[in-house]
Amino acid sequence: MKAVRIHDFDGVLHMDDVPEPVARDGEVVVQVVLAALNPIDEQISRGEYRFVEPPFTLGVEGMGVVLTPGPRQGERVMFFGFYGAARDGAWAERIAVAEADLVPVPEHFSNEEAAGFLLAFTTAAGALEYGGFTPGTTVLVPAVGGAVGNAGVQLARHWGAARVLTTAGSTAKADQARALGYDGTVCVTDLSRISLVEGVTGAGAIDAAEKLVASVSGDDGPPEVDLVVDTVGGPMLADALSLIKAGGTIVSVGSAHGDTATLDLHAMRRRLIRLLGWNFVPLITDPSQAAGTRARILRAAESGQVSPHIAEVHPLDDIDKAVDRLLHGRLFGKVLVRP
Ligand SMILES: NC(=O)c1ccc[n+]([C@@H]2O[C@H](COP(=O)([O-])OP(=O)(O)OC[C@H]3O[C@@H](n4cnc5c(N)ncnc54)[C@H](OP(=O)(O)O)[C@@H]3O)[C@@H](O)[C@H]2O)c1
Repeated sequence: MKAVRIHDFDGVLHMDDVPEPVARDGEVVVQVVLAALNPIDEQISRGEYRFVEPPFTLGVEGMGVVLTPGPRQGERVMFFGFYGAARDGAWAERIAVAEADLVPVPEHFSNEEAAGFLLAFTTAAGALEYGGFTPGTTVLVPAVGGAVGNAGVQLARHWGAARVLTTAGSTAKADQARALGYDGTVCVTDLSRISLVEGVTGAGAIDAAEKLVASVSGDDGPPEVDLVVDTVGGPMLADALSLIKAGGTIVSVGSAHGDTATLDLHAMRRRLIRLLGWNFVPLITDPSQAAGTRARILRAAESGQVSPHIAEVHPLDDIDKAVDRLLHGRLFGKVLVRP
């Protein structure tokens, strides 16, 4: 069968003909219908994370249909975990998946939504929980069009945030966000026109939507951002620090823009700001923690109010193009491949 593998930690992807996967005890073989692309796949391909030696198949996340005879045969399932990292992954026609990692697809989800749901929503939910999110608070989750950023915006809104502040890197993306219904509780700052701080404080607000963003600051100056869940990094963290209220929490989840930030440490100390790092690994390795978070995101999905946006679907044969679109396309939503 076809599989996209690395032969070395050099970032080069190979379309290989590989043996069929074998399901061990407690595993099943899944016919992959769609697999997702995530930044971590590219990071693994370059050796940023090294769990096993190549060659192995990439792809931490996907969805498909159980092939192995038994009670789950024919079931539509989604999965993610150490696939494509510590064992063969989802960028292939078929994959062996531990039964514990099989998540039934919510009935109303399309195959595309199922393929793009688990990693982003698990990560965002975990970060919101880790940061102590509570309903009725104001949350800043930059990058409404990013996979994890978008999941964070949707979950915070669904779980009762008073206000969700977010960003878009272009006017087209900001317009797309508003057209998709990210308004009202959700306030999008168009970073191609004004800075996040200007957008939120109203200093540079140009149109009605931006003035709405500014309304979060009220008449008394600085806005009261309780929690930041950030996947952008770089200068976004400094902006977040200047917007968060005393005693607030910043959770760093990713660095799409860059790993280096210049922070006003004096302001952090003076205002008792907590800066936390978060990654999804505890939600893979700790089954009890994972079960709670998984149940919460599935309930959110089943409510019909929360689902991932899918930007593009490419044939698996076009994997290099698909990765390029993920890394450089500045798309709204997830990129998928179809074996
Ligand atoms: N800690 C974890 O467990 C975990 C889990 C998943 C992902 N991550 C990390 O979180 C980050 C985002 O992941 P994702 O899947 O949400 O990625 P994504 O879908 O590509 O989203 C990244 C967003 O960042 C914004 N961005 C700002 N500056 C950018 C730049 N220079 N290049 C590219 N994007 C830029 C883009 O929004 P605009 O175009 O609107 O600016 C884009 O929508 C990555 O660093 C990833 O490795 C961490």
